[in-house]
Amino acid sequence: MSRTFFVTAALPYANGSFHIGHIMEYIQADIWVRSQRMAGHTVHFVCADDAHGAPIMLKAQAEGITPQALVARYAAERPRYLDGFHIRFDHWHSTDSPENVALSQGIYKALRQADLIDSRDIEQFYDPVQGMFLPDRYIKGECPRCHAKDQYGDSCEVCGAVYQPTELIEPYSTLTHARPELRRSEHFFFRLSDPRCVAFLQGWTTGQRSDGSPHLQPEVLAKTREWLGTEGGDGQASLADWDISRDEPYFGIPIPDAPGKYFYVWLDAPIGYLASLMAHCQQLGLDFDALTAPDSPIEQVHFIGKDIVYFHALFWPAMLHFSGRKVPDLLHVHGFITVSGEKMSKSRGTGISPLRYLDIGMDAEWLRYYIAAKLNAHVEDLDFNPDDFIARVNSDLVGKYVNIASRAASFISRHFDGQLGFVGDVAPCQAELRACARQVQADFDKRDYGRAIRRIMAQADQINQAFDSARPWVLAKGLSQADDTRKQALQDICSRALAGFHTLTVMLSPVLPALSARVARELFGLERDFVWADAGQLPSYIHPFRHLMQRVDPAQLDALFEPPAEPLVAPGGEPIADTITIQDFARVDLRLARIVECSHVEGSDKLLRLMLDVGEGRLRQVFSGIRSAYEPADLVGRMTVVVANLAPRKMRFGESEGMVLAASHADENVYPGLYVLEPWPGAEPGLRVR
Ligand code: 2FM
Ligand code: ZN
Repeated sequence: MSRTFFVTAALPYANGSFHIGHIMEYIQADIWVRSQRMAGHTVHFVCADDAHGAPIMLKAQAEGITPQALVARYAAERPRYLDGFHIRFDHWHSTDSPENVALSQGIYKALRQADLIDSRDIEQFYDPVQGMFLPDRYIKGECPRCHAKDQYGDSCEVCGAVYQPTELIEPYSTLTHARPELRRSEHFFFRLSDPRCVAFLQGWTTGQRSDGSPHLQPEVLAKTREWLGTEGGDGQASLADWDISRDEPYFGIPIPDAPGKYFYVWLDAPIGYLASLMAHCQQLGLDFDALTAPDSPIEQVHFIGKDIVYFHALFWPAMLHFSGRKVPDLLHVHGFITVSGEKMSKSRGTGISPLRYLDIGMDAEWLRYYIAAKLNAHVEDLDFNPDDFIARVNSDLVGKYVNIASRAASFISRHFDGQLGFVGDVAPCQAELRACARQVQADFDKRDYGRAIRRIMAQADQINQAFDSARPWVLAKGLSQADDTRKQALQDICSRALAGFHTLTVMLSPVLPALSARVARELFGLERDFVWADAGQLPSYIHPFRHLMQRVDPAQLDALFEPPAEPLVAPGGEPIADTITIQDFARVDLRLARIVECSHVEGSDKLLRLMLDVGEGRLRQVFSGIRSAYEPADLVGRMTVVVANLAPRKMRFGESEGMVLAASHADENVYPGLYVLEPWPGAEPGLRVR
């Protein structure tokens, strides 16, 4: 029976490029989708940029562009990664879209109608300089327990204490260094503590799909039981209501009937799954409302990482259910990717850059294969280990699988003009291949890709052994003088190997879409991609074999991990930023300036206040964080360079109208040193640096 799936991967925040963790998740989902399609099922596989929230708003502001422009910039680079790794979403959308606005506001209104929205005043830290309420991650201060300085608003990295931002000693805003003030404001809450929500979630989390498999993996279910209070405790649900509103300024979706209030990004992010599906339906002329109605037969599947289970296993199904929509059928949670056993860290450079991987000519399907071989159905971390990678690709993928074709095909092309021929009963061989493919298909369906790959490789071993023990190279010696029996024996053993290779390729198709497409067309002359029903079919003819896949050169892994070449790295270890055009550079108006006055700033141990002559017939006030390196008297009368078209910034001490250029190491704590730039003698204030 043909089924219809609606499949998503987690929506990436639109303030950064994809990292290897995103690519791993998309490959996992893409493999699953391809396997379902090979079974003849219909899949709507969609994703989108997660565009809203304070970090994106602030990053855009810091760059002097609109949040929409920032999101568009990251959206524009997505296809390079997705195409590069053969990840084929049917549609890529954005949560900052008319569809998402309509859906989010509609779902909110339905929840309000169902009496599941509350409002109440809460007190929060407010940055008076930035003019906004501060998310916890933008508040730092002294740990109330161990008195370590510069700890985040929610927990101390030194002693591990967990606390409220309001408990910090000497709290400050990381945005402006201002001291935050407590202010009251009305917030909206989704009443997750309502007994109806708890009852629904107890049912859904323990529920099953139409095929009898559970909605949740066992370890995910165990987590939700903890949260729902059904594990061990007194059976009392302990779900807290969920704060779904943020005050302006916020880059988000306006809350209906509540001027100045926006949905918290995590409310509209999962709704973005639906928005993307809606846009996809519009393109295809499909009935979106029917697909997402509570009784829709579509199977809704979300692939996510273990860090966002709470949102997807509690909030999301409850939002859907109580707004009268169908709920998810399957939440598949994966672990993180580590590199040689270590959590990846961009700054330490141990991570794998997906673009670098492609740029140095590594084959995307090696990574797809490696990830598949190491993934299982559990929430376990996956370790990328370079030696293991080389071994699996070279020994298994190329050595066991690809080699079957390259060895057998040459005999068939050379001696039999491409015709396959079998001697004796081939039915058992076909039955075995079919049985193997059925099991592999079931493994893929259960997301146990590692098991699927082990089966495939065991089958490849068997095919290689049969081929080797028949010693075809001996049979082929002086073949023109040989009798028909010997010729037929050679043709038979090579044909059986190629029939095996044919089904191995069918089984590997979800993992190796490009290679399998080539095998189908170039070797077996098929005019379409493989489907599961091709498993166990006997090909009758092959075209001459063409090289299919390179082995990994260990030097490539060195290149993948190698820090960029020496001259690109500053002594502070900071890599050179992304390439820009001359037009990009021209947007920054750099001018020579004379430092006319300079003084300390009361209440700041970082800043100096400079009065600059930028050749405008007036003086500009600029605050500069160079106090640690210069005394005011050292600077007065000297020339320097200033960013003259930087948006003026209000600071606690007054407005700053530009920025003085100074060089420093990436990590000033490790490599102190700060150097103000100065032009060569003779230069005048107001000249442009170009
Ligand atoms: O954690 C994240 O990267 C989020 N942007 C994931 C959102 S998934 C969905 F809810 F949109
Ligand atoms: Zn502490």
